[in-house]
Amino acid sequence: FQPKLLRGKRVLITAGATFERIDAVRGITNTSSGKMGFAVARAAAEAGAEVTLVAGDTVLPTPAGCQRINVKSAQQMLESVELAVPASDIFISVAAVADYHVVNPAEHKIKKDATTMTLELAANPDILARVASRADAPFCVGFAAESEKLLEYAEAKRKRKHLPLLVANLVQQAMGADDNEVILLDDAGQHRLARAPKLDIARQLIAHVADLYQQQHKP
Ligand code: C5P
Repeated sequence: FQPKLLRGKRVLITAGATFERIDAVRGITNTSSGKMGFAVARAAAEAGAEVTLVAGDTVLPTPAGCQRINVKSAQQMLESVELAVPASDIFISVAAVADYHVVNPAEHKIKKDATTMTLELAANPDILARVASRADAPFCVGFAAESEKLLEYAEAKRKRKHLPLLVANLVQQAMGADDNEVILLDDAGQHRLARAPKLDIARQLIAHVADLYQQQHKP
């Protein structure tokens, strides 16, 4: 039995990896599978939310009841998210967004006639930080995958991006795996969720989000 903790709430979720074009056939991406973000979308829908899922490169099926928008690059993800933000109560940013894009992607396939080549990269916008700093910001939840000093880096990230809630996980355990083990960081401190399938973790996360959201929006 899943209580409808988010009945009528509009939840925007990003998931999966972004893909930054190098040329007509190549690009830069990462090993995010999208499984965690899709599990969060499913758990939010189960909890009665209206879910918009902005999905990067992933072949995963759309969870029941979610409206899905497919994007490739971080720039496209930003545009889709910014369009949806004004109609969102909660934003959960699970996507592994590329930090950089290629400055001048080639229109055609690049021929291998040079012995070395250099790609010029420029920083991508931080989608979550932008949304969280808006005057009309929804309740924002971030994810932080770190390979060391997890709690220290994650809490610094939570503060820097002005997030009421951040989900910290060790990158070696999380990326591509079916299970996850995370620590939720909020103003009250740390809440450790034991290793479990991503859908179980997602359901516990959604219960925690609903709780914090209700506390913030008490009449
Ligand atoms: O700074 P870092 O990439 O570790 O932050 C991770 C969090 O920020 C995740 O919630 C991710 O979805 C979000 N993010 C973003 N846009 C970026 C980079 C990260 O929304 N360009």
